[in-house]
Amino acid sequence: MSETSLRRERSAELFAQAQVLLPGGVSSPVRAFKSVGGTPVFIAKGAGSHTWDEDCNEYIDFCCSWGPLALGHAHPKVVEAIQQAAALGTSFGTPHRDEVALARLVSELQPWAERVRFVSSGTEAVMSAVRLARGYTGRDLVVKFDGCYHGHADYMLVKAGSGLATSGQADSAGVPAGIAATTVVLPLDDEAALREFFAARGSEVAAVAVEPVPANCGLLLQRPDWLQTLRELTSEHGALLLFDEVISGFRLGPGGAASHFGIQPDLLTYGKVIGGGLPVGAYAGKAEIMSHVAPVGPVYQAGTLSGNPLAMAAGRAALEALRDGGWERLADRAEAWRARYEPVVAKYPVEMVQLGSIFWLAFQEPAPRSYGALGREGAARYAKVHAALLERGVYWAPSAFEVGFLCTEHSDEDLDRTAAALDEALQIAHED
Ligand SMILES: Cc1ncc(COP(=O)(O)O)c(C=O)c1O
Repeated sequence: MSETSLRRERSAELFAQAQVLLPGGVSSPVRAFKSVGGTPVFIAKGAGSHTWDEDCNEYIDFCCSWGPLALGHAHPKVVEAIQQAAALGTSFGTPHRDEVALARLVSELQPWAERVRFVSSGTEAVMSAVRLARGYTGRDLVVKFDGCYHGHADYMLVKAGSGLATSGQADSAGVPAGIAATTVVLPLDDEAALREFFAARGSEVAAVAVEPVPANCGLLLQRPDWLQTLRELTSEHGALLLFDEVISGFRLGPGGAASHFGIQPDLLTYGKVIGGGLPVGAYAGKAEIMSHVAPVGPVYQAGTLSGNPLAMAAGRAALEALRDGGWERLADRAEAWRARYEPVVAKYPVEMVQLGSIFWLAFQEPAPRSYGALGREGAARYAKVHAALLERGVYWAPSAFEVGFLCTEHSDEDLDRTAAALDEALQIAHED
């Protein structure tokens, strides 16, 4: 996929330097383009829905920093909020008024988030919420689902064991088997498996973590009934239900996936959009449960830069802009995109899966709902689609199993151009 007519000398040069200094040349693995081939582009700047790389090539960006940028790049209100905060000092290590303001906003938008603790990433949010669930319930076992990603805490980098109710196995070197054994991995979209597991081990479970809109292995949309069963079984067995809304939170609207499905979890985790493009994560939930977090309760969790004033200001500005018309605009863009891609994808053996401003191109019909149903064959075709789109100035995530994100700034013209480029890219990918 490295053939290109675009000038990429500067990106290539920087990548060569980066490979000597950073493992694989990157700060996070998927950025290295390993699964699509070719050299990653080094982005130099962004404005609205567009980015420019170091060689001055321009892209319509659908990665949006992997989700945080629901308002696009360098949104004026977010930039102004960061600048104003920075001029007053970058970090104090004391309580700060913008933590109060952002927590209030979060609780107003999602009233089930009665208390909020800020951290600096989605990983940290999930890691802390799981510790809280364990401290609260006095149980050790955690359940997750095949195909969901919850950041890279040891007990979340776990794959399914040999049987349904058996402990998980490490999915990364460096994760001790003993820690992986505290996690059980179940299949999505399988009510019988849920019931069977809970009947056998329900009383051991501290928390069941789920992406209510699984968006890390394609977009594996779940049936509301399945999520409802999960809610019922966790309540019945005294386990906490953790909705990991790091992607869906404040993207699918004020109440995220929990409100979309009308299901109240015990704990919520946030990241991405909540920080407006700065490093913010949060865990939140019922006051009674959150009161177990230090300093009021016995579950320890802390952070030097947690609630950082710049990050809080960015998050606040972003959520206010989304509240003041941003979500309506995102919904409008989602429909505008659907209208443009539908006639294109209808010509090929693919399906576009979409929920609001999140979308994913599945190279199989019907689109899968579980990891087990996910075909691997699409990856090679996606690599061709990705390269052809890049060539045409459209930036999609460099992996077949990552979703795309719309932002409020994607214009009709952006979407027209993208649909036309997608048509050509799909034609190229299906030439053989
Ligand atoms: C659902 C979900 N949870 C947790 C994380 C981890 O967040 P972070 O990358 O900010 O650590 C991610 C990251 O993509 C995610 O999608």
